[in-house]
Amino acid sequence: MRVIVTKNYEDLGRVAANIIASQVTLKPESVLGLATGSSPISTYKELIKKYENGDLSFAKCHAANLDEYVGLTKDNDQSYAYFMYNNLFKFVDIDMANTNIPDGTEKDAAKECARYDAVIKSLGGVDLQLLGIGHNGHVGFNEPADCFAKGTNIINLTQSTIDANTRFFEKKEDVPTQAYTMGIKTIMSAKKILLVASGKDKAEIIYKMVAGDITPQVPASVLQLHNDVIVVVDEAAGSLLAEKAPEYIEK
Ligand code: GLP
Repeated sequence: MRVIVTKNYEDLGRVAANIIASQVTLKPESVLGLATGSSPISTYKELIKKYENGDLSFAKCHAANLDEYVGLTKDNDQSYAYFMYNNLFKFVDIDMANTNIPDGTEKDAAKECARYDAVIKSLGGVDLQLLGIGHNGHVGFNEPADCFAKGTNIINLTQSTIDANTRFFEKKEDVPTQAYTMGIKTIMSAKKILLVASGKDKAEIIYKMVAGDITPQVPASVLQLHNDVIVVVDEAAGSLLAEKAPEYIEK
């Protein structure tokens, strides 16, 4: 696991976007596993700049997103489909037909999970998976649990995640309580993984993920077992690691 600490959130976006751009330049038909949340926004902004400058094209890429809330339609402004369209896809040349995300409106969970696993399989797996991280160590929506989930699954969101999301919804009862998410095995099957995190509130979980025990109670800790992971954090998110286990940070 390589850990790169950047000065701030903007620099983090530049470093992470350079890694994604290298991937797409070397393999234009890459399958990109994409993430939502505030963490990847500066990365997406930099990717958009590279596209606008004529330095990068997503025309041959496929995208497979990590997760989606159960019950939200694609045009709901809190859905992850809406997020992806409005933070990346509409600004670049990716073919929308080549973008994939679990269907939050599908009520038959077994059917939707099997469909999404088949989509990822048909793409030949993910080349580069971008991840954020929740405060409790969740990746995608794989919440702390007694075991690691394998394929796409339906998750009951933890109260801390529901609380963290409440700020985005007008009424408390509108906050989704379930989500579809790629499983840990699928994430771990990506050839390369890039995790981004920023802010002091992520310092403790970054320390646990990088230097702590590997346990499904901290889902992201399993990334220690993958042999091509790059973690890009800003100084605030890397602060506890820098204090307690600086040997993990790339000089
Ligand atoms: C949600 C998403 C995750 C994301 C996490 C952290 O739970 N499902 O993929 O990593 O939020 O979000 P943020 O980057 O806004 O802190």
